[in-house]
Parts: sequence; C-alpha cells; structure tokens
Amino acid sequence: MKISRYFLVICIAGLIVSCEGQAKKPKPLTDKEKAELHMKKVLGETGKQSEYGLIIIMRDLARQIDRINTGLFTNNRYMIQKGAEAIAHHPIPKGGIKPYLRKNVDKVKTEIPIIDKNLHQTAIIISKKAKTASIRELHDLTVKMTSACVRCHQLFRD
Ligand code: HEC
Repeated sequence: MKISRYFLVICIAGLIVSCEGQAKKPKPLTDKEKAELHMKKVLGETGKQSEYGLIIIMRDLARQIDRINTGLFTNNRYMIQKGAEAIAHHPIPKGGIKPYLRKNVDKVKTEIPIIDKNLHQTAIIISKKAKTASIRELHDLTVKMTSACVRCHQLFRD
C-alpha cells in the first residue's frame, strides 16, 4: 500500500514537470509573425543592437562582398565562407534603419522582410556550400545575394 502511494506521488510529480516542460516550449511562429518580428529588428525596435551605426555595418558588408569576390577569383574557399558568414550574422545596427526611412515607407515595410530574408538565407547557403559547390554556383549565389543589397538601396534612394 505504501509503495503504491509513493508511486502515485511520483507519477503526479512527473506529470507536473512534463506539463511545465510543455508550457515552456515556445510555439513556432507563423510566417506573418516571423516577418513582423524581422521588421521590428530591421527598424531597431527589438533585438540586441550593435554599438555601431548602420553606415559602419554597411561598409563592412561591402568589404565582405569584396572578400567573397576575391575568393571567387582566386578559388579561395576560406574567403568565400568567412565573408558569407560575416554577412549572414551581421549585427543589428544601432538605431536600425529608422533614421534612414524617409520615403517609400509602406513599400519598404512590406518589401524589407522578403529582401532581407533572401539576403540572409543566400548568405547562409553560400557559407555552407563554400567548400563543396563549384565556383560557378557560388558566383551565381553571390550575384543573387548582392541583388538583394541593391534592391534594398533602391527603395531608399530612388
Ligand atoms: C534592409 C535594407 C538594406 C539592405 C538589405 C542592405 N542595405 Fe546597405 N544600406 C541601407 C541603407 C538604409 C543605407 C543608408 C542610406 C543610403 O545610403 O541610401 C545603406 C547604405 C549602404 C552603403 C553606403 C555606406 C556609406 O558609406 O554611406 C553601402 C556600401 C552598403 N549599404 C552596402 C550594402 C551591402 C554590401 C549589402 C548587402 C550585403 C547591403 N548594403 C544591404 C539599407 C540596406
């Protein structure tokens, strides 16, 4: 009788622990929620920001493109991988893009999550494939990536 009571207590305790575990598991975000969260990061409204502003981060992004291109022209796969990694994981500039958002505001807000997703996903693909894919394929991916940079600038500059 005693043993079975202990058994019951252990079972209930186990159930509580496993329920708590379930409750803590974050619900996967929908695509819309992901895009909204992403936009907040780009605007500088959430996420850990760098101590450096947008222009400094942008100039470094441009250097990383140079690094990838040198890698493509010299078959230096290390440079391709490291350049793409730096782009994929670039920090959120201090203050986000908000100070630069003067025109096309609605267009920018709807397009940026897609542009930025393309940019970061392609950077991740390049970094993962840097050691194995053909240089030609890596070059095509790099062009796809830089066209996302250019598309975003067009929104701010045209
Ligand atoms: C989310 C939009 C966005 C994306 C994506 C983006 N940029 Fe920018 N970039 C900006 C904004 C905003 C500015 C500042 C305003 C301007 O120059 O028109 C800027 C400015 C720049 C500048 C000029 C900095 C200076 O010295 O004035 C360079 C260089 C640059 N970006 C490189 C890049 C590269 C390389 C990529 C892709 C790897 C990239 N950017 C992707 C928004 C973006």
